Amino acid sequence: MYLEHLGIAVADAAAVRALYEKLLGLTPYKTETVDREGVCTHFLDAGAKLELLEALGPDSPVARHLEKRGEGLHHLAFRVDDVDAAFAHAQQLGFQPLGDAPKPGADGKRIFFLHPRDTHGVLIELCGDTDAMPPARHVPFDGTTLATFTFGDPARPPLLLLHGAAGATQLETLPLARELERDFFVIALDHEGHGASGEAAQPATLFRFAQGALAVLDAFETEQAHLVGYSLGGAVALLMALQHPARVTRMAVHATNLAWDDLLVSQMQARLDPDAFARRTPETWSRFDEVHQGRARSVFAAARAFTRTLPAFAPQVARLADVQTPTLVSAGDSDDLFPLGKTLDLYRLLPAARLAILPGVRHALRPDDARVLAPLVRSFLAG
Ligand code: CO
Repeated sequence: MYLEHLGIAVADAAAVRALYEKLLGLTPYKTETVDREGVCTHFLDAGAKLELLEALGPDSPVARHLEKRGEGLHHLAFRVDDVDAAFAHAQQLGFQPLGDAPKPGADGKRIFFLHPRDTHGVLIELCGDTDAMPPARHVPFDGTTLATFTFGDPARPPLLLLHGAAGATQLETLPLARELERDFFVIALDHEGHGASGEAAQPATLFRFAQGALAVLDAFETEQAHLVGYSLGGAVALLMALQHPARVTRMAVHATNLAWDDLLVSQMQARLDPDAFARRTPETWSRFDEVHQGRARSVFAAARAFTRTLPAFAPQVARLADVQTPTLVSAGDSDDLFPLGKTLDLYRLLPAARLAILPGVRHALRPDDARVLAPLVRSFLAG
């Protein structure tokens, strides 16, 4: 554990930023809005990290703090390895953490606060990295096992979360899980042969991925769930809704395309070239390799082979016109893999679809994109 940052409540962020620039030559390295908390944060690296907190409206906790106590020191934040364990530990010790669980905060953290009445007048934040994974539960599936991760209260409506080709929960959909866990019981799976799952027992096909997802629903004794899928995961969700409509409540598919042609296949082959990937972004590659248990090369090779099977599915895409499941179709307007027209085609084909286009969002699902997407998914699934 160490002191991660100091939180400072500011009434006039521009004036305070100007002050630190004049006094210390410091400008924020990052400015980030946390809508749910009604706050805009400005981060300064002053040896210690400073978090300037600016209220976005009169209902913001920071606005209430400013009203009661004026500008100045707001909280001390300590970093812990496992923020969920720290939350449970604090409760056992008799503290009353604010909120019923750690929540997404700024700068890639999950956080909770201890009330100053329990801590001699200092508001204490405990924070952990959002990329910390809950323990995996391995579900048997036809000659192998699928890794699953759960988030949130099992009493909430179940939601199955599906990542993309050559991805994994930890690499792609984890920030979305963290955003959605307050409203849903999120079950995230690693597809066959991906991430923490066992070796692939069969060549990858869309049908095989959908069978795996159904096996996970069965293992959790979940008759029906919301489906949320990114890229390939969205294609799997659409296939499940087509084949097993009774298992799907509502669904959200992001950056998804089922109408593959040879041009897209060749683009995807290039995207999944491990040597080019490792040359371009060596750190990302080693992270992929670590999450894929040292077998990123074979995961990429399998994904390339899988991609070549996709044009064979294209003639069946028209059958999606029979899918009655309410579906949110979303994509970034800057998707660098699928042309926006593919998203519009999918939206127009599905009889019960809504459309969301996210400005400035590319194909890769970055944590910042998940924060924009999550509220749309949450309100759509809630009906
Ligand atoms: Co803070």
